[in-house]
Amino acid sequence: MKTNIGHLEAAAGIAGLIKVVLALQARTIPAHLHCAEPTPDIPWAKLPIEIPDRSITWDASPDRLVAAISSFGASGTNAHVIVEETPDVPEVPSDEVSEGADHVLLLSADSPQALQDLLRAYRRHLGHDPNLPLADLCYTAAIGRAHLSHRCAITGSSVAALQERLSTYLGGGTGPGIFAGQVKGTGRFDRSVDQPMDGAAIGRAFVKGMPLDWQRLFPRRQPVVLPTYPFQHLPYWVGSPGPTRPRSDITDLLYHCTWDRVGAPPPASTFVDEPCHWLVVGDVPGQITQELEGPGQTHSVIDCRTAEMDGSIRDTVRHALADVPPSLPVRILFFSGIDEIPSGPEHADALPRDVLGACQLLVDLIQSANTIPRSPTTRIWTITRGACHTDARQPPSTPHQLARAGLWGLGRTFATEHPEFFGGLIDLAPGGSAEEVRDLVCCISWDRDQLALRGDQAFVPTVQPAKGDVLAGDAFPQIEANATYLVSGGMGALGLRLAAWLIDRGARHLVLVSRRGETPAVKHEMRRLRAAGARVRTPRADVADYEQMATVIRTIQQDGPALRGVFHLAGVLDDRTVTGLDREALTRVIHPKAAGAWNLHLLTRDLDLDHFVLFSSLAAMVGPAGQANYAAANAFLDALAHARQAMRLPALAVNWGPWAGAGMAGTLEPDHLATVKRSGVEPMVARHALAAMEQILTENVAQVVVAQVDWRQVLAGDRPTFLRQWSQHLVDDTASELEDQDASHGLEASTDLQELLGGSADALEVGLTRFVQRLLAGILQIDSAQTIDPDRPLDEYGMDSLTGTELKNRIATRLGIELPLSGLIGGVTVASVVLMVQARLPIQAPPGGAEPSEGSETVEMVL
Ligand SMILES: NC(=O)c1ccc[n+]([C@@H]2O[C@H](COP(=O)([O-])OP(=O)(O)OC[C@H]3O[C@@H](n4cnc5c(N)ncnc54)[C@H](OP(=O)(O)O)[C@@H]3O)[C@@H](O)[C@H]2O)c1
Repeated sequence: MKTNIGHLEAAAGIAGLIKVVLALQARTIPAHLHCAEPTPDIPWAKLPIEIPDRSITWDASPDRLVAAISSFGASGTNAHVIVEETPDVPEVPSDEVSEGADHVLLLSADSPQALQDLLRAYRRHLGHDPNLPLADLCYTAAIGRAHLSHRCAITGSSVAALQERLSTYLGGGTGPGIFAGQVKGTGRFDRSVDQPMDGAAIGRAFVKGMPLDWQRLFPRRQPVVLPTYPFQHLPYWVGSPGPTRPRSDITDLLYHCTWDRVGAPPPASTFVDEPCHWLVVGDVPGQITQELEGPGQTHSVIDCRTAEMDGSIRDTVRHALADVPPSLPVRILFFSGIDEIPSGPEHADALPRDVLGACQLLVDLIQSANTIPRSPTTRIWTITRGACHTDARQPPSTPHQLARAGLWGLGRTFATEHPEFFGGLIDLAPGGSAEEVRDLVCCISWDRDQLALRGDQAFVPTVQPAKGDVLAGDAFPQIEANATYLVSGGMGALGLRLAAWLIDRGARHLVLVSRRGETPAVKHEMRRLRAAGARVRTPRADVADYEQMATVIRTIQQDGPALRGVFHLAGVLDDRTVTGLDREALTRVIHPKAAGAWNLHLLTRDLDLDHFVLFSSLAAMVGPAGQANYAAANAFLDALAHARQAMRLPALAVNWGPWAGAGMAGTLEPDHLATVKRSGVEPMVARHALAAMEQILTENVAQVVVAQVDWRQVLAGDRPTFLRQWSQHLVDDTASELEDQDASHGLEASTDLQELLGGSADALEVGLTRFVQRLLAGILQIDSAQTIDPDRPLDEYGMDSLTGTELKNRIATRLGIELPLSGLIGGVTVASVVLMVQARLPIQAPPGGAEPSEGSETVEMVL
């Protein structure tokens, strides 16, 4: 190889193999390029060796050609491979038994996301050609691909049937002929399955990881071209300077919104028993009033499903509170969408109407309760169901539940504007639970004001720097020349920047939608976009109007190329305080965002999109004063992104902080902008925002905050409780990071094991898993701890005896627990390390105040 391409280090062997295969195909031995004079120290004439000083025809007929490749490294790595040309085999007719028979397509990947990408690639592949030879396709997928741990098998008797089932599965559905599973570990079965099997049986066995007799189940057929593996692109460079984009400029802008488990709500405190009047409003659950019968307590109920409301809810509320003495605290529980009411989810305008209706009801309630003389401890709690997505495994919210998500944005602004009047936001589990009403009452007396109840556990929203996780890859987002990208609000400040960015990344067909179309103000930008070589269409349409958007999308699909990306930016501002909000101001702001997003979702959910990006705002999370309607609209976008991901549709909501210089933030009045800056949020340079966008588009996250925030400033002064709970740890973390610059990858700060030891067994397992993942990420130089699959053998991540020893030592230092080195090498996984640690933790000490063992002292001290 050296003569052809020079010294190749570790790649020399594979380059040699490639060279030989090419020589076999060309039946030519290529000339040695630089051996003018062979060394006289070797008796060439006596050896059956020849150095080709010119290309030689290579023909060994009638025998087959054989070559040997040697790779002998100075370090002692020796390899020798013998390669023989493939035997001539009779061609198998490719159309034989293709249609009509029961075929099974076996697909697998290394991670859930890669599997999803692979399935989408197959769906697209099948869509290109309905006449694909099905038997050949399934044969090649079964025999010609490695079988990895995340698996899916689809049976069908036609290309169309396979494609439809792939779509069903990708849409979150199951059904006959669809099998999926994860294979954990290897070699659990002693023998392969050898009884006769139909497609479904093969699929079932495949996803369970049973060894199959491939040659017998898939008799030889013609191999065909298949989609290639969707690599998930993580850098593995030790001490990598990072990808070429300005990483340092964006690292500090990215945050994840997550939910932290905080345990079961504490038993209801005396607060619940203090004299008060309870006003229960909305879709009131039957049992609630029984829980509200303390001494000196009264209650009234306005059930919106049955109440005779003359005029609006305002009069009904006033009437209900008319006899309550102004000195008596009123606790108002607003139950929104607890019971499923028929809302015709397929009817395009039903959900957006629901979003508005729920917000309107809460605003009415706040405004009417605000006008009545009230005790200083009167509070309003808003209760939703399934509106928050606390866990990636949570099923997609129903449209009705989803519609309530806007209340979380509105509620946050209410908290900012009226901390003395805001009680809290509580989300009940999507499917409900027997104990939920009691738990809910406990939550009301808790000092946490934003909670999601799941089973007997409560979760609080929090924000985490996304440094390692989001910035893991140096992949580039999939933007294709032969595809169309739709940008709603594309004529706005950010829309035009996004369009230029898309073109810069290779897009050649853009559709920029707005109500006014191409106005003179944007002529210059439009000329620039078109001069860059793109076809830019600018239809006038209201994104909130289903029919108008259906026409836009139909036209794209007819004219081509196919729609591959949707970016929803359309939106307007109409800032008012909650008490000054009227129906028009709510509709004006919420409708284009919520109805627009919902229309785009309904109209494209069956299309094969690569991107569905919702331009949301930081406002949805922090609830700025004066922006209740805007926060509500954006909170809905966030929830829709989570719901779509749960349906396995592409989705990303970006909670942008303000962009400098243009658009909604750029047009703020100077004193308003000064208030924003004083609150700790700085406008971002557009270039940085777009660089962040480039990063996050390659990630499989539903929601990312991209904002330039000084958290100390945000939390300085009198801030609402929820904002403290959301982000206080960022300020604390920065402080401890400064104190301990050397805290090897920040591991100490990241896991509070003492707290875990006091919690439930589940929480302990989750915490230890994260802890071990983080240790390993540090040791193995993996950017993102979360990408380490707990069930995947660690040797596949590069763990060997040296790194195993390091893991053993770090666990010993951090936890005072000695693990046997033999247990940390071989096929060990994070899960098995966690089991080993758990078995040695002192929490299994006998109950009843027994003296802690020696081991537990060590653990307590280290923690
Ligand atoms: N700029 C920022 O700093 C910032 C920060 C956070 C989030 N965001 C989000 O980013 C998005 C874009 O912001 P921007 O600053 O570019 O706003 P912008 O300059 O005001 O542009 C908004 C665009 O939306 C269009 N639009 C409004 N209602 C529409 C409807 N019903 N149907 C179709 N198009 C409609 C407008 O055009 P027509 O009036 O002609 O319809 C305009 O082209 C917004 O969703 C905003 O919430 C912006």
